[in-house]
Formats: sequence, C-alpha cells, structure tokens
Amino acid sequence: MILQKKGPLRGQVTVPGDKSISHRAVMFGALANGRTEVTNFLQGADCLSTIRCFRQLGIEILNHTERGQVTIYGKGLHGLKQSGQILDAGNSGTTVRLISGILSGQNFETSITGDESIQKRPMGRIMTPLKMMGADIASLNGNDCAPLKMNGSSVKTNRLQGIHYTSPVASAQVKSCILLAGMYADGETSVTEPSLSRNHTELMLSEFGAKISSTENTASIQPEPSLTGRKIEIPGDISSAAYFIAAGLIVPNSEILIKNVGINPTRDGILRVCREMGANIALENIKGTGGEPTADIVVRHSELHGIEISGGIIPTLIDEIPIISILACFAKGQTIIKDAAELKVKESNRIDVMAKNLSLMGADITATPDGLIINGGKPLHGASIESKSDHRIAMSFAIASQMAEGKTVIEDAECVEISYPEFYMDLKKLSQ
Ligand code: S3P
Repeated sequence: MILQKKGPLRGQVTVPGDKSISHRAVMFGALANGRTEVTNFLQGADCLSTIRCFRQLGIEILNHTERGQVTIYGKGLHGLKQSGQILDAGNSGTTVRLISGILSGQNFETSITGDESIQKRPMGRIMTPLKMMGADIASLNGNDCAPLKMNGSSVKTNRLQGIHYTSPVASAQVKSCILLAGMYADGETSVTEPSLSRNHTELMLSEFGAKISSTENTASIQPEPSLTGRKIEIPGDISSAAYFIAAGLIVPNSEILIKNVGINPTRDGILRVCREMGANIALENIKGTGGEPTADIVVRHSELHGIEISGGIIPTLIDEIPIISILACFAKGQTIIKDAAELKVKESNRIDVMAKNLSLMGADITATPDGLIINGGKPLHGASIESKSDHRIAMSFAIASQMAEGKTVIEDAECVEISYPEFYMDLKKLSQ
C-alpha cells in the first residue's frame, strides 16, 4: 500500500471493540451456563480465531458480523467437547495462551497451533506454571513454542493443583492462562506479577460469577466457579484509538474526536504518556465507574517534548510503544523507552522493526536491549516499510506517512485485519 501526507486530520471516528475484552467474552461465555450476548465485538482476525477454536470445542456461537453482535451458547465449566482437529489460533497469542490454561483442565487431549509468527512466540512462560499445576502440556517441536499438546485426561486425580505463581513477566496472557487453569484446580490459585498487567480477566470473570480477588499485583481465584451467561458491551479499543491520538497530535491543525474508548487504568498508559509529553487531550462523556470505564477522547495538534518511559507504566501501554516511537520522532528532545524487552516477543520483534523502519525514514533512533532511544525533530521522508505482517507496525507507519515527505510504501499492509479491519478507511475519512 502506498500512503502520502494529506494535511490535517479532522472529524470523528469510532474505533472497533477492544481485542482483549472480545477474546475473553467468547472464552468465558463458552464456560458459562446459558447465553452470553456480546455487542461491539471486534470482528478482527484474532478474535475470529477464538470463535473458531471454541466452535471446534463444541460451542455454538452466532456471529452477526455486520452488527458486531455475537451470541455464545455456553455449556458450563465442563461442557467443552474434544475436537477432532488441531485448533488453529492464527496470529493470536491471546488465543493460544488463554485456551491452553482452559484446555489443561479438560478431561481430553487437544493440540493447538497457529501461523508462522505464533510458532515462534515463547510458550515456555505458560508451560512452566501449568506443569507446576500438574498439567500434561508439551511443545510438539520441543522448542517451547506452538504447536502445543495438552492432555487433561492424563492428569493424576483428574484435577490440577492450585499454586501460587510468581511470574517473571508482567503479562496478562500468562496471568490469565494460570487463573483459567485455576478454575479446574483443587484449591486456590494465585499469580503475582512484577507490575500489574491488564486486568480484563479478573474483572470479567468476576462479573460472570467467579470468586476472584486482586490486591496490588496479585490475583487469586477459587476453583469450580459456577459462571452464568450475561450481556457484555465491549468498549472501543484504546490500542486502536492510539493511532488517531498520535495522528491528531503530530499533524498540524488536526482535531479528532474518538468516540467510546475503553480507559481502564491498566490500559491507559498512552494517555498518561501523551499528556506528560505535552499533549492536548480531553476526555469527555466519561461513563462507568467500574473496571471498564469509557470516554470520548478529543485530541488536538500539540507541541510535544521527549520523556523517559519506564517501569510500571510499560505493561499499561505495551502495545502502544510502536506508535509512541512515531510520536517521539515529532517531539522536541530525547525520548527513552526502557524496561520493554517484551516487545521482542510480540507479533514481530517490535524493537528491531521500529528502529530499522524509522531509520529508513530518516529518524534518529537507536535500539537498546530493552527499548529505544529516539532524538526527535529530524524530518521523516517516505520509505519502503517491512511490516513483518505485524498489524501494529503497519498502522504506526501509516500514521508516520502523514508527516513524511514523499511516498511511504507499507508491505503486507492488509495485516491490520488482525485488530482493526477498517483502519485505512477511517484514516482516509479523517484526512478529507
Ligand atoms: C493481551 C496481553 C498483552 C498484549 C496483547 C493482548 C491480552 O500481551 O500485548 O496484545 O489480551 O491479554 P502479554 O500478556 O504477552 O503482555
């Protein structure tokens, strides 16, 4: 795809439903008794992979794609059926890691795999705690990556053991995997992480009726909950909104209203960082005081300055670091991103891919072992960008193209399908 600078971005946009929350709505709805009705479900390829896997596990799911409505006919905690085929999670790490927790506790054998990227992503981080719980889980190629095989029927006593796990990484996928396995354990299971990652699992499972509690960086769950189907309205994805927040800030004379965005405090690091960089961002129409509040976000072009981003804020903006790196190119002074080594094991190695592509566009950027150092203020020019089929890389460079001289060519631009199928259409609407 070839993109070119167009001028200010102005108007209103509604980003699609939150990816993390959409996955969980299907998974927990499948394990609940009765019907779960979901509105504003993200029709991105990752969430469709989760639907496909649960259909393979015998769950009836209706997807009214055009309305974003999904109905899941849950069969209870022990209602999944063995699939005759290997499950396919596509590009979705959330699908593999969370489902593995659930499947380790079933009384049958399942295998799960995914695309080329998924088959390179680390699964040892879930296999280690699951094995501590007594799970029979193996990497079929012996490299701690997918394909994975879980055999719940070989677990002695037919139950996993509750554990307290201190996770070396702040990862909601690891935390959620263990908590979900904990529903099939013989006592309490808890997870402590180095800093708090997104807490959608804790919030939503509790709404479904699970006994789950959280204190600071520890979440604990009691086994054998009785989950009940419910209605779930998915907020807009702040990770998708981040591209238009950045565009509004860096393109002169822009003003964008982004409607109905989830602003859960474990996800709002992008707002905090932008404000610290000097951004003019207003939140309007804030709704919901519980765990998943939403707001309309108004963003206006702003003069930004560089900052250091490190420590506990990193998990709250982990998926936004590619677009924050673009912002940093337009900020005065230096931006240092630290404590973000996790970026190396996302859909692509996002530290290397951002450093390489932004250098090609003329930015002053250096990759470090756990982040990036960017000296802002150097004008960008168009280049040929290898997205590595990583949706967040493609969207970040589509925004960078709006400030670059000349043409930006994004290879495999269609990978935005993973989390934001209408992304280029929305960008075009705003830039007219
Ligand atoms: C997610 C957690 C994060 C995030 C991913 C979605 C989730 O991954 O990067 O896009 O839905 O739990 P990690 O848990 O590996 O940090």
